[in-house]
Amino acid sequence: MPVVPLEDELGDILDKALRCAGLNEEELAARTGVPVERIQDAEDYRYGDLTDGDLRRLASVLGLNEVGLCALARDCYPRPRIAGLPFCVHTMRLPFGVGVVNAYAVVNCATGVGVLFDGGTGYEALQSVWPKAVTRIEAAFLTHPEAEHAGGIPGVVRAHGLEGYYGPPGGIAGMECWPLGEGETVVAAGYQVTAFSTPGQCAQHNCYVVRPKAVPRARALLISGDLIFAGSLGGGYFSCSGVLRHARRILGALPGSTVIAPGHGPMTTVANEMKYNPFLG
Ligand SMILES: [Fe+2]
Repeated sequence: MPVVPLEDELGDILDKALRCAGLNEEELAARTGVPVERIQDAEDYRYGDLTDGDLRRLASVLGLNEVGLCALARDCYPRPRIAGLPFCVHTMRLPFGVGVVNAYAVVNCATGVGVLFDGGTGYEALQSVWPKAVTRIEAAFLTHPEAEHAGGIPGVVRAHGLEGYYGPPGGIAGMECWPLGEGETVVAAGYQVTAFSTPGQCAQHNCYVVRPKAVPRARALLISGDLIFAGSLGGGYFSCSGVLRHARRILGALPGSTVIAPGHGPMTTVANEMKYNPFLG
């Protein structure tokens, strides 16, 4: 299996952290003693001159997890083994810009019947990577209405006779949206899906916790959209403090064994991100 690249490198982390702290590179250099050229090089993905001491000072001033930041700089961010879920999770990875966006089908491994989270860039693109093992979708959920996550939802709704989809209030123009707010739960295809309202990356954003209805204490799956990535958080374009606050409260509310399925990048776990995510140290 090819290794799925992380959504963000060290340069992206510094960029997001600077923006959310309201600092520029010169101000960060003055506060840390790290030469401004090294900071600018790091933002351009050139990390060779950054010493461990530089990374420690950057982490301290920006309030980042030093261990996770150093691991990202040395290209060795820890990746947990993903196992033990009581259902099959099929990741559909679609190219988007210079990166990749994820959609997920959570299905009964024997029947292929289940629920969909996000729709990728468009229905045709989604169809091109649709797993044969996924036979029917009984409900579709949207994390947030940005085009690369919402594009395929209308086609899935029509193709599977769903009449609408679940998502944060607002939604996709011309399409029936059944809004889900904080703590609201839907049961579909034998799965219990509970929404967290998590504005931050954008004004309308939900995460979802998925468990089998018949086994509510089984290992859970968190569909984190653009709130939490392996090794990073969302950009906070609506609210940096919202991203941080919601990421912390959700990870704090879920067992460490919970598997996280982000909107970009590889899967991870709550325990891994609590320990290493640069923004959560
Ligand atoms: Fe995204």
